Amino acid sequence: MHPNSLHARDIASLVHQQTDLDRHSREGAVLIDRGEGCRVWDTDGREYIEAMAGLWCASLGFSERRLADAAHRQMLKLPYYHTFFQKGHEPAVELAERLLAVAPPGMTRVLFQCSGSEANDAAIKLAWNYWGVQGQPQRRKFIGRTRGYHGNTVATVSLSGQPHMHQGFGLPLPGFVHADNPNYYRFHEAGESEEAFSARMAANLEALIQQEGPDTVAAFFGEPVQGGGGAITPPRGYWPAIQAVLKRHGILLVADEVICGFGRTGSMWGCDTYGIEPDMISCAKQLSAAYQPISALLVSSRVHEALLEGSRRHGTFGHGYTYGGHPVACAVAVETLKIYEERDIVGHVRDVAPAFLRGLEAFRDHPLVGDVRGVGLIAGVELMADKVARQPYPAAAGVGGRVQAACERHGLIVRAIGDRIAFTPPLILDHAETAELCARFGRGLDAAWAEMQGKPDLAAAE
Ligand SMILES: Cc1ncc(COP(=O)(O)O)c(C=O)c1O
Repeated sequence: MHPNSLHARDIASLVHQQTDLDRHSREGAVLIDRGEGCRVWDTDGREYIEAMAGLWCASLGFSERRLADAAHRQMLKLPYYHTFFQKGHEPAVELAERLLAVAPPGMTRVLFQCSGSEANDAAIKLAWNYWGVQGQPQRRKFIGRTRGYHGNTVATVSLSGQPHMHQGFGLPLPGFVHADNPNYYRFHEAGESEEAFSARMAANLEALIQQEGPDTVAAFFGEPVQGGGGAITPPRGYWPAIQAVLKRHGILLVADEVICGFGRTGSMWGCDTYGIEPDMISCAKQLSAAYQPISALLVSSRVHEALLEGSRRHGTFGHGYTYGGHPVACAVAVETLKIYEERDIVGHVRDVAPAFLRGLEAFRDHPLVGDVRGVGLIAGVELMADKVARQPYPAAAGVGGRVQAACERHGLIVRAIGDRIAFTPPLILDHAETAELCARFGRGLDAAWAEMQGKPDLAAAE
């Protein structure tokens, strides 16, 4: 590596996020240079199908001119203003109206933040405010789920059930506990149906609530489909069973739609797909097709009423970020929602999803693959050492990482989450690209398998 190369300069200057920093310091990074449609090119000119849409977010691909133009227009008109101190601007109002128009029933107000983490962090604070106003200030605890992912602020990473994000930081904070992971394939008992598994998850949640004290729990956070946990779809009956438990104890439900929102699961919201009736919804990522950092917290009337009451008691609603509801981000998000509507993005996802899921399910018989599950344009492929006994590979073998690397050599960016390979391509993926994505995945799987059989020559890129 030449010391003046971009790769060397990257190593010498940058702390990469969610990265093995020691390995990065030796190997450097893949540096992405440009994008077009569902594809990106690295600085060495290699082309990839981006089957993760970046970080589950670039829903309209990497070259949507209308979003660049919307940002440019807004920058020329009003490049910055805020929503503090009873001030505001039109792009925030228009975006809030558009969001409420497509939101699941019951949502009545919108709070803009800059990231999914901030939207969830705000939901934590609003839940505390809600219970304070109800005269139950002892309701301070939150329930997330094992392998759940809700963000990286100190509170939202505590809510997340990701051990690697806790270790080294002395987290989670007290008062954040985790219910079971809903990965049916991995954790069901012999002969247990999806419905029976869901009932067991709900019974375990009930036991956890009893153990913590029902009147100490403020809210439960859940992603309709777990993303960072490995693209895990809920088993049949899961959400109704979980919601029944929460209702019984009056615990607030926050739907983290940061990945699922805006068509990913084949409906506008994961809540629509799974019949979830939350008190708050956090969304981000596809809200602006990832062209600008923006998130939103949608709140129901009872949560909003509590906010008003809090203000009557304490005066100012003491929360806000300089860039929350940034006009350029709002303008880009408004344009994104217009494009979704004009192009019927949800209809498009429904059209392509069967071919996408069938294409991946065809790999069930591959020697590396134990299970394939997905909904809409999100799917997880679970690698398994012994399919019959559902015996995973030892973590140290790094099999998921091998498959990810082999796929990259064959022009496909996927994400290995342990030994689950996640797929969330841009929502504009067409039928031809779907077929190509699956073909490249097959080549990546074969190459990784060959490599593991001690045939490195077969593992080389074509
Ligand atoms: C479900 C979910 N919630 C929250 C977040 C955090 O969002 P951000 O990285 O924008 O803070 C993520 C990020 O991937 C996510 O997947």
